[in-house]
Amino acid sequence: MNDKPALPNPTWFVGCGNMGRAILDGWRGAGIDLSGVTVIRPSGAAIEGVQVLSSLSDAGAAPKLIVLAVKPQKLDEVAAQLQPLLTSETVVLSILAGVEVAALRDRFPEVAAIFRAMPNLPVAIRRGVTGLYTEGGDRRIKQQIGDLFAPLGFAMWMADEARLAALGAVAGAGPAYVARFIAALAKAGEGRGLTSEIAATLAVETVLGTAWMAVAKGESMDSLARRVASPKGTTEAGLAVLDHDQVLNNLLALTIDAAASRGAELAEEARELPADARVQPS
Ligand SMILES: NC(=O)c1ccc[n+]([C@@H]2O[C@H](COP(=O)([O-])OP(=O)(O)OC[C@H]3O[C@@H](n4cnc5c(N)ncnc54)[C@H](OP(=O)(O)O)[C@@H]3O)[C@@H](O)[C@H]2O)c1
Repeated sequence: MNDKPALPNPTWFVGCGNMGRAILDGWRGAGIDLSGVTVIRPSGAAIEGVQVLSSLSDAGAAPKLIVLAVKPQKLDEVAAQLQPLLTSETVVLSILAGVEVAALRDRFPEVAAIFRAMPNLPVAIRRGVTGLYTEGGDRRIKQQIGDLFAPLGFAMWMADEARLAALGAVAGAGPAYVARFIAALAKAGEGRGLTSEIAATLAVETVLGTAWMAVAKGESMDSLARRVASPKGTTEAGLAVLDHDQVLNNLLALTIDAAASRGAELAEEARELPADARVQPS
């Protein structure tokens, strides 16, 4: 018996760049059947194991599930093209940062249900973080959407869209911040005479090992740092720089605040429905 979660057939990915691709890679890695998936992307660039079309006009029968994976700025353009193709059975799953359910409902008033997912890039290797959100709706569909993200790493339902936005600022964007930290650690190593290749390996392996150990042992970051830093030792000297005036905490707080503010701007922009785009339910 195949107990893998099943994708509704047909499922369309409208847009499939970095993030759409990461989700598909994760599902493929989890052994989920992708044969019912059609990707619509203007470039028509091929993706392993799925049908790819460059235009919605060739996509055929109305889909049961649409994964919206375009940039938020493209929402109105694709909503106008999708509108005639949707039915009251279609489920829309949006991964658009910032764009709230109410804004999606304005664009897709007749669909069966609207879900938001805020994944991060490591879903591609099934070590991602995904926040999920919906309002009311059918428990069976909610279970199905949750089951599809569970194999991609850590997935959780968020109580409201404010908390989904917070998750997006921390975890959705997070891999970029961690990548910058790793690069900075490597650069500092180069500054001490290591080759760039060795410095890069040491930095990435150190972050990986630390995160892995924290998860495996359930150890707090404070305790972990204490176990590395012996009194008056080298690590303590380094930590004194990071901890001075809460410099690292403040930097990260500013970073997350900036991402959250941009998310709020995107939400605000998406609340404005273009005058010619208001769709009347029939
Ligand atoms: N990247 C992340 O880590 C991340 C994390 C969480 C959420 N998100 C959200 O995911 C969404 C996509 O981000 P991304 O990073 O994957 O962007 P991306 O790499 O630029 O991908 C955008 C996709 O949209 C397609 N596209 C553009 N115009 C289209 C149209 N008119 N019809 C259909 N498809 C169209 C592009 O087609 P081509 O492939 O043909 O160019 C591309 O596949 C965004 O809304 C973002 O907020 C991203």
